[in-house]
Amino acid sequence: MGESGLHACGLFVLTVMMVVGVGAICGGAPGLLNSESTETTSWRNLLANGLACTPQMGWNSWNHFGCKIDENLIKETADAMVSSGLAALGYHYVNLDDCWGEKNRDSDGNLVAKHSTFPSGIKALADYVHKKGLKLGIYSDAGTQTCSKTMPGSLGHEEKDAKTFASWEVDYLKYDNCENTGIRPQERYIKMSKALLNSGRSIFFSLCEWGQEDPATWAKDVGNSWRTTGDIEDNWDSMTSRADENDKWAAHAGPGGWNDPDMLEVGNGGMRKEEYQSHFSIWALAKAPLLIGCDVRSMDNSTFELLSNKEVIAVNQDELGVQGRKVKKDGNLEVWAGPLSDNKVAVVLWNRGSSQANMTAHWSDIGLSPSAVVDARDLWAHSTQSSVQGQLWAQVDSHACKMYILTPK
Ligand SMILES: *[C@@H]1O[C@H](CO)[C@@H](O)[C@H](O)[C@H]1NC(C)=O
Ligand SMILES: *[C@@H]1O[C@H](CO)[C@@H](O)[C@H](O)[C@H]1NC(C)=O
Repeated sequence: MGESGLHACGLFVLTVMMVVGVGAICGGAPGLLNSESTETTSWRNLLANGLACTPQMGWNSWNHFGCKIDENLIKETADAMVSSGLAALGYHYVNLDDCWGEKNRDSDGNLVAKHSTFPSGIKALADYVHKKGLKLGIYSDAGTQTCSKTMPGSLGHEEKDAKTFASWEVDYLKYDNCENTGIRPQERYIKMSKALLNSGRSIFFSLCEWGQEDPATWAKDVGNSWRTTGDIEDNWDSMTSRADENDKWAAHAGPGGWNDPDMLEVGNGGMRKEEYQSHFSIWALAKAPLLIGCDVRSMDNSTFELLSNKEVIAVNQDELGVQGRKVKKDGNLEVWAGPLSDNKVAVVLWNRGSSQANMTAHWSDIGLSPSAVVDARDLWAHSTQSSVQGQLWAQVDSHACKMYILTPK
């Protein structure tokens, strides 16, 4: 960051300190599983919007629809979020991705909703979504154009665009990284963070910088979540590699700011049921945003069953807010675990190999003392093994996982 950038940040910190004083700060305490977790105590989010005390949940248009979006689709999706019961489970954000706007700004320099697909405008859409008890998210780009190149980016227009989003009563901004003219992200993203803070509305700030300049090390001061990876695709290799890349940054996540390995592909058809179950389980354990990416208007029962598992969602939304991580790897057999509130521990036995395997989690690997006796709740089978000591084992199918909450007695 150049000298002028540092200066701007310095002033910004002063401005924001006052807001921190009165603003909502997330509850919860730092985790105990790994020593690096203590890092989560030392930061305060400059955005100070009190959002993201737990990872965001909702839906985004991109993974299934790409640029083929319009206001009817978004309204029908909001309807389906409520009628399916997903909204009641915590999936509150309904988020537009790229391609919602006209190619050019209006004569006053404002972004404009695309007349052919969003004829009623974004404010009307926000009103509709709010009436359903949901929140509306929008998308822009920290560059000159968005990634689709069909609409302008917000670089150099941050204050104006943030005020526009606030005037439309938008609740969430996903901010992409295309056409960025080579300016460092630390400079581009903090401008929008500041603009959102000045917009007069609490707006969740989701950085989509693709993990290029290790945003986990700086974005927790700037936004509520940051992508740690490139875009996910609807296949096993893409999903597993994103889980692994995201895992490296576990120590940096916590209430107020989360690592984001990209949105869910569950229900889009490219993976088997057990692969989607692993995808959802690991995202939940890793405190990743749970942003559904399928067509919820027509999802099948198996998709709904995965996305609506309350016990798995509860791991993701646990108030302690410590990202679970890969704690043991033996070839393709991996144990992932993380602490939860009330001294509970979440564990995933993940078989990434091509045949069924007997997998074991040893207490020493997952932060329990060897003498601890626990009740082991299987979150997918909805059954409990009582008084388990020292280790927990299970037969796990290829590409499947078992997920548990261990409660010490
Ligand atoms: C889906 O679930 C509903 C209700 O739970 C049930 O009536 C229906 O038969 C199921 N459909 C399939 C294809 O399993
Ligand atoms: C699985 O491994 C555990 C030890 O790690 C062992 O106690 C158990 O009997 C094994 N189960 C099967 C079905 O082989």
